Formats: sequence, structure tokens, C-alpha cells
Amino acid sequence: MQSRIKELDKIERIEIPLEEPAPHFSFPQPPPSGRTVVEVAGLSMQYGEKRVLENVSFTIERGDRIALVGVNGAGKSTLIRLLSGQEMPTTGTLKLGHNVVAEYFAQDQYKVLDPAARMLEDMGRVAPKVAEKDLRSLLGCFLFSGDDVFKPLGVLSGGERNRYALARILVSTANFLLLDEPTNHLDLRAKDVLLEAIAKFTGTVIFVSHDRYFIDGLGQKVFEVERNLEDSSRGSQVHVFPGNYEDYLWRKEGGAQALAAATTAAAKPVVEAVAIASPEPVAAEKVRRVNPIKLRQMQERLAAVEAEIPRIEGWVAEAEQALGVYVSPEETQRLSEVLAVLREQQASLNIEWEELSMQLEEN
Ligand SMILES: Nc1ncnc2c1ncn2[C@@H]1O[C@H](COP(=O)(O)OP(=O)(O)OP(=O)(O)O)[C@@H](O)[C@H]1O
Ligand SMILES: [Mg+2]
Repeated sequence: MQSRIKELDKIERIEIPLEEPAPHFSFPQPPPSGRTVVEVAGLSMQYGEKRVLENVSFTIERGDRIALVGVNGAGKSTLIRLLSGQEMPTTGTLKLGHNVVAEYFAQDQYKVLDPAARMLEDMGRVAPKVAEKDLRSLLGCFLFSGDDVFKPLGVLSGGERNRYALARILVSTANFLLLDEPTNHLDLRAKDVLLEAIAKFTGTVIFVSHDRYFIDGLGQKVFEVERNLEDSSRGSQVHVFPGNYEDYLWRKEGGAQALAAATTAAAKPVVEAVAIASPEPVAAEKVRRVNPIKLRQMQERLAAVEAEIPRIEGWVAEAEQALGVYVSPEETQRLSEVLAVLREQQASLNIEWEELSMQLEEN
């Protein structure tokens, strides 16, 4: 629980300085893949005794731009490696769709680059259809200018190699990009170029990033790799959030507020006190009296829940209204999914509200 709060704190809130805009670059687009890009079913991944992922199922569709989030060590890189085919799952299946050409950018990019090849030459091989001046302009965006472009790749430092590998991915013919923390070695200008390239990319992208600016600009769906907080020997699960990153964060921040209240002093008893009431209504005399600190925490949580309920109601109404206007089968499907998630949240908030109210009445 604590780690989630830390995770939220860690998200960078970058102010964008006024500087010269990134030069425009026209990116070649890859041939399209089939509609289903990956289908994962009942996948588990274990390294020896260590269970990293457990019973994970989801589908990635053509054109998805997915932000893969989760605390350190949750298994994000592991999932990316599995999706890229670098590793095989311990159990379960992972099926790539038709004509899917995947390109993988590792967190520590040790991609095999020919050490003797010169940068511009190597780039030209990857993207024979792109004019040399465009390749140079792209490399310029990634901070390689002048004579740099004639350097043999072998002499690049680790950071430079990462930057180069990203530039290279942008002109490749892959239609499924798997990017593990791609912005780590980029300055703002290069980040903008990457952002623009991915935003215009007609293929499918899944990326791991802790960079708010990047995720906000790109993530259309959020997959969260979540560790099992009750039993650390179990593997992580993957939760799919149909909304964008802002929707996801809003939910998390709502959750974090409650967690912050619960962790100020004695966190667990609050949860227990609430849990007592949840399975079945208990007779008033059986209800455990809670101390003033816990009481205050419950009151704070109740206030937070009361503020969240009308917000969710508003969203449900919006989604219902939108569903009333037919756009396309895909849009109807998407809205139905969003609506189902919202209704679930609405129901659980209402239950929580009732439980808290009852507990507070009795104390
Ligand atoms: N090859 C391996 N052998 C054994 N354990 C591994 C291996 N790769 C990863 N792990 C373990 O699996 C867990 C998940 O690691 P992973 O690198 O996928 O997490 P992550 O979510 O990418 O973390 P971070 O945010 O720090 O990059 C960690 O506990 C890690 O130690
Ligand atoms: Mg990682």
C-alpha cells in the first residue's frame, strides 16, 4: 500500500521550458498488422521459485497505445520481454496476431548493434526509403549532429546507444513497438520527437514509463501490473483500465487519499473495523468500538467517498448519454466497457459508504 503512494509521488511533474520546438520529421509508417495484435491467456511467469506474473490474461488490439504502469519490481519489464518473444512464459499462452512485426526497446538497451557499422549507414539500412537529410534531421533530434553520424556504433556510450536505438526504431518497419522506459536517456527535445513519432504511429505501442508528461501525451489505455500485497510470494496480476491515464490516476489518487488517511496511525484496525460489518450486518452490541484516531480516519474516508460518489455518477450519466448516440460498433463496445467499470466502482463506493455510515453511527 505504502509503495503505491510512493509510486504516485515518484511520478515526475515536469514543467516544460520554453525552448525551440522539435523539428518536424515525417515518419514512414509500417504495413498494418491484423486486428488482434496479441492474445494472452492464463499466463504465468516464474524464475525458479520466484513467481513474477500469475494467471494474466488480456488482449492488445491494433492501434492500441498502452501505458504499462506498476511499482518497481512488479514485473513490467518481464511482461514486455514475454510480449517481445525474448522469453517464454512458464505456463499459459501468448499468441501474436497476423503480420505482427514486433520491435523491442529494452530498459537497459543491449540490443545487438553492429559495432563496426556507422550510424548513418546503419540507419539507411533500416530505412532505405527515408532520405538521408531526413535521417540526419531525426538523428539531430536525438542529439547526434555533425560528425557524430559517421561514428561507428561500437564507440557509443551506453546512453548514446540507447538514444540511437530509439531513433532507429522510429524508422523501422515494425508495427508493434514494445518500449521499456524509453525516455530515460532523452532530453526534452528528443522526448518531444519520440512523443510526436509515437502519437503519429499507426501501429500498436505498449510502453513502460514513469514520466507523466510522456504518459499523459500518449497513453490511451493503462495496463497496471499489480503485486499481490497480501502475499508477496504470489505473482503480479495485470489490470486493464479502459480509460486514459488521467482516469486511471484519478482513481489511484482517490485510493491514495484513503490510504494516506489509513496509514497516518493504525492503518489495519480501520480496515478490520470496516471488514467486520461487511460480510453480514452485525448486531450493534457486537461491533467493536474504535478509538478516536480511527474514528477520525473513518470520518475522513467517509467524506472522501461522499465526494467521489457524485463524480462517478456524473461519469456514468455521461457514458450512458454517449452510448445513446451511435457512432460505430467499436465505440459502442468501448463505451460499454467503460460503463461497466464505472458501474462496478459506483456499486463498491455505495457499499463502502453504507458500511462506514453504519460503523460511525454505532460509535
Ligand atoms: N531473469 C530473472 N531471474 C530472476 N528473477 C528475475 C529475473 N528477471 C526479473 N526477475 C524478478 O522479477 C521481478 C520483476 O522484475 P521486473 O524487472 O520485470 O520488474 P519491473 O516492474 O520492470 O521493475 P522496475 O520498475 O524496477 O523496472 C523482480 O523481483 C525481479 O527481481
Ligand atoms: Mg523494469
